[in-house]
Amino acid sequence: MTTSNKKGVFITFEGGEGAGKSVQLARFAEYLQNHNQEVVTTREPGGTETGKEIRRLLVEGDKDKFDEITEILLFYADRRIDLTKVIHPALDKGKIVLSDRFNDSTIAYQYYGSNKFADRRIMDNLYQIVAGDFKPDITFLLDIDVKTGLERSFKKAQTMTNKELRFENVDIAFHERLRQGYLELAKQEPERFIIIDASGSMDEVSQKIIEAYEKRIKE
Ligand SMILES: Nc1ncnc2c1ncn2[C@@H]1O[C@H](COP(=O)(O)OP(=O)(O)OP(=O)(O)O)[C@@H](O)[C@H]1O
Ligand SMILES: [Mg+2]
Repeated sequence: MTTSNKKGVFITFEGGEGAGKSVQLARFAEYLQNHNQEVVTTREPGGTETGKEIRRLLVEGDKDKFDEITEILLFYADRRIDLTKVIHPALDKGKIVLSDRFNDSTIAYQYYGSNKFADRRIMDNLYQIVAGDFKPDITFLLDIDVKTGLERSFKKAQTMTNKELRFENVDIAFHERLRQGYLELAKQEPERFIIIDASGSMDEVSQKIIEAYEKRIKE
């Protein structure tokens, strides 16, 4: 694999709620570490201390508390902090950086998922400002049917005391648009995306990710 990120490798995990991104990212980090790779993990929003404050603003409270532009600006502010403080410094040291969500989440949720806001150029322009031509080397899209994903996240929510439900409290049609949006993004950039069927057991999904990664790095 020729990476566009000269020294390290930048890998993102994408998909809707309950797809298993966080579980699988942790397992994949462990796999890489067991193979003597230096790994840094981050998440968006909220990969840094300042980013956590932005995350809190974004994920708590009423789902209509921000207009679309304000919401998007907050996501890109968080992304800029994550890129400058975490992602680029680690890649410059030759590490593998794993991010739980990245720019595709913004496009999937705020463009494809939202039916009231339809100008993707705003997001593409902001991405260019905060990231330039930088891109993930690999994006794992954990694809799952909406019902199964939501069932998983509702189960998780019942066992948690946290209030991060702002994006879960939306309708099924939204989650369908989100899923189709992600698949459309994957179609646009097949060299970057790897679509993983995330409906199996955790072990099955981990195995698929590892196999796809091993295959990709040999290409
Ligand atoms: N393959 C799986 N089979 C069954 N349950 C799973 C599987 N993968 C994850 N889960 C469970 O589903 C829930 C959601 O998983 P996880 O938190 O990793 O999803 P996520 O994609 O990070 O979701 P979110 O977008 O809400 O952060 C967790 O409780 C997790 O234990
Ligand atoms: Mg998660």
